[in-house]
Amino acid sequence: MAPPATPADLTITPRDRRFGRGLAQDRWWMAGDPVATAFYNALSATFPKGEAFFVESVRLFREGTPPKLAAEIKAFVTQEVMHSREHVQFNKRALDAGYDMSGLEERVEWRLSITRARPPIVNLAATMCLEHFTAILAHELLANPRHLAKSDAENAALWRWHSIEEIEHKGVAYDTWLHATRAWPRGKRWKVKAKVMLFVTRNFVVDRSLGTLELLRQDGITGPKAWARMLWFAWINPGMLRKIFGAWLAFFLPGFHPWKHDDRNLIEAAERGLARPAGALPA
Ligand SMILES: [Fe+2]
Ligand SMILES: [Fe+2]
Repeated sequence: MAPPATPADLTITPRDRRFGRGLAQDRWWMAGDPVATAFYNALSATFPKGEAFFVESVRLFREGTPPKLAAEIKAFVTQEVMHSREHVQFNKRALDAGYDMSGLEERVEWRLSITRARPPIVNLAATMCLEHFTAILAHELLANPRHLAKSDAENAALWRWHSIEEIEHKGVAYDTWLHATRAWPRGKRWKVKAKVMLFVTRNFVVDRSLGTLELLRQDGITGPKAWARMLWFAWINPGMLRKIFGAWLAFFLPGFHPWKHDDRNLIEAAERGLARPAGALPA
């Protein structure tokens, strides 16, 4: 049996959409809930700098890739650049709603400066791991409508749009990594990949939790109560992090590939939703 790989008929289509221009966003745009809002705002704070890092890490290895992968890298870059553009706008709306996200952004910059000091292949590995993370978050966001059910329509459309494209390009950094390390023994490949995944996961969970707590602090929610509410939201109800745990673990299995789980049905369903007039503005 052939090893799992990116489907031959997959097309990565950058969808040049704009969201929320001129929208005066509610401070608690997500379900009127400070905790849910802080969780997603903290995530969004990472995207502009984080996605720029993904782009530069993958691009460095584009040369010499097979033409299909080279074309996918190009489409991946276009998608990520547009995600950053839209999350810059989203973050501005959060700022207008009264949140100071500069501390969160500085922490992202600090983490990235440490990673950037490592060899390019480590940066590619970190990107490949974080792309798995974003793909499984995107999967859960689309598969379980309850996550965005109480969001305002425009921001729900933004997060769905981003999720669609994260699923669509989920194999790109992985395939680039497979190509870049094609001469490595399997054991070495697995060891590096597993080590980097554990490292970026720890940082991701710690940093996003601290970011969420900082935004809650700005809402006057502090101390054990803030911790309890944040942990409850992230791990119990709706429990995004608990729900993606199985998919996260799959990364360590022998023969893993992001497309071993073909979830393009979620893309089709979400696109039908996005095509509706309510929710998204045309580009
Ligand atoms: Fe993205
Ligand atoms: Fe991505």
